[in-house]
Amino acid sequence: MAPEVREAFINRPHMVDSAPGFIKMNVMVPQDNPNEIWLLTYWSDEGSYQVWYKNHMKEAHSGIPQGLKLVPGKTKVRFFELVGE
Ligand code: HEM
Repeated sequence: MAPEVREAFINRPHMVDSAPGFIKMNVMVPQDNPNEIWLLTYWSDEGSYQVWYKNHMKEAHSGIPQGLKLVPGKTKVRFFELVGE
């Protein structure tokens, strides 16, 4: 369902945009695997992300394509420190 998921990101609800500490988000698809979708969200601090995740994760996904099944173990969250720009 990669095409539907891509479409959902193009039309995403933008609720996260007003979350405290949220800076920006990029949705990336690796050229060597169009079935992977990488979300890069930028936050002022990790605590702001955790607050959003705890309270708004569900509603942010209300437009998720119906019937979507994830490959078990393939969803990963990683945290990065920004060291330069
Ligand atoms: C810890 C895991 C995840 C995080 C942090 C996360 C984060 C986000 C964020 C920040 C948005 C944008 C919401 C907005 O615009 O207000 C979003 C939307 C979306 N996410 Fe996730 N997500 C996660 C897991 C997943 C999973 C497992 C899927 C399944 C494929 C998924 C599919 C989508 C889709 C299709 C959208 C766009 C449609 C919508 O927002 O309703 N996400 N996600």
